[in-house]
Amino acid sequence: MKNIPANLLTRLANEHATPLWVYDAPTIRDRIKQLGAFDVIRYAQKACSNIHILSLMREAGVHVDAVSLGEIERAQRAGFSTARTASGAAGIVYTADILDRSTLRHVVKDKVEVNAGSTDMLHQLGEMSPGHRVWLRINPGFGHGHSKKTNTGGESSKHGIWHDELRQAVELVRRYHLHLVGLHLHIGSGVDYRHLQQVCHAMTGLLRDLDHDLEAISAGGGLSVPYREDEKAVDTAHYFELWDKVRKEAENRFGHAVRLEIEPGRFLVAEAGLLLAEVRATKQMGRNHFTLCDAGFNDLMRPALYGSYHEISVLPRDGRCFSSSSLRPTVIAGPLCESGDVLTQGPDSVVETRNLPPAQVGDFLVFHNAGAYGASMSSNYNSRMHAAEYLFDGAASRLIRRRQTINDLCEAEFIPEKTAGVAE
Ligand code: LLP
Repeated sequence: MKNIPANLLTRLANEHATPLWVYDAPTIRDRIKQLGAFDVIRYAQKACSNIHILSLMREAGVHVDAVSLGEIERAQRAGFSTARTASGAAGIVYTADILDRSTLRHVVKDKVEVNAGSTDMLHQLGEMSPGHRVWLRINPGFGHGHSKKTNTGGESSKHGIWHDELRQAVELVRRYHLHLVGLHLHIGSGVDYRHLQQVCHAMTGLLRDLDHDLEAISAGGGLSVPYREDEKAVDTAHYFELWDKVRKEAENRFGHAVRLEIEPGRFLVAEAGLLLAEVRATKQMGRNHFTLCDAGFNDLMRPALYGSYHEISVLPRDGRCFSSSSLRPTVIAGPLCESGDVLTQGPDSVVETRNLPPAQVGDFLVFHNAGAYGASMSSNYNSRMHAAEYLFDGAASRLIRRRQTINDLCEAEFIPEKTAGVAE
């Protein structure tokens, strides 16, 4: 996103108001290409579920993962079908640890393939929909994440079917005449190579234990991206190589071709997105210099929730230049009525500073690498509106979500009329 000129961003901020999410379509397409060796890229849309972004993914040949009824609906509105494509893979797969009642009815009605993270899901689906296509999401007994909150494996995690229960799960598949599509492992977000090898090893072991045929295996998601300047990008060729070996083992074991899927969220969109905010106040609090902007953790939740780092730069409204000697340690905070609304904080909520040029009221701030788990995790806390989203895509650049209005915010709520004769 560093390729987008500052004057373009300033223009967008002026035209569409801040906070504003800005995405770059060519960056997304580039990341898709980097994973092109996998048979199927299944986008974990929870990272950024804007319907236009989903349709961009679909046009680029990507399949999609959905974790709720809402995500299934978004995928369908973006043109994804629940049917299988030429690769044999379903357009949409629902991955979760439970099936709430309305989602269960919907996946049965629309024949959405289900990736089951609990044996109860198999009972519930099997009773209503014998023959349904299912994956088994296995918890291999270990996990890893960039934060404890994004580790999805091991005994402290609620995710997946415990590895020792693979056989029981397969028995349920048989009992309900379900169709086993494949095995799936996702141990967390921000997986490094050491854990990757461990995951591949775990999948190989599961395949050896499996006494049932399958069509596919899924490597899950979790590929990290460089948030800090000194962090390296994932070597996708190496990533593929390791998984391809597992696939070959599966092919030897079952005697036919086995499809290899990958399920990234962050990798496809994180670096393609930024958040623009306007500086609305500056203040000195003892030794700390604060710059307050109009984006808070209701917009970008990651720093407050995980202590995540997002690079920040200042865009002067008037185009003035900053000298490197003018940098000063600055705390960046948002507008919310809560002390934790600090966008420069580390793990354990420690307030941090960044060396930034002296921003004045009216200047803009850019929060980089915010395309994943940015807009999709934003909320209406403090009754602040969801920000608009804009996509750069050459001649097709445009707003892809309007800013929420005060009416949108309030329209689902009502004050019931008082009925005569009912005691207060
Ligand atoms: N597949 C499954 C089953 C998942 O649970 C997830 C993420 C993914 C794929 C995609 O993971 P990714 O490639 O994006 O790392 N809000 C956190 C991340 C939570 C991820 C939850 N599951 C964050 O902002 O870092």
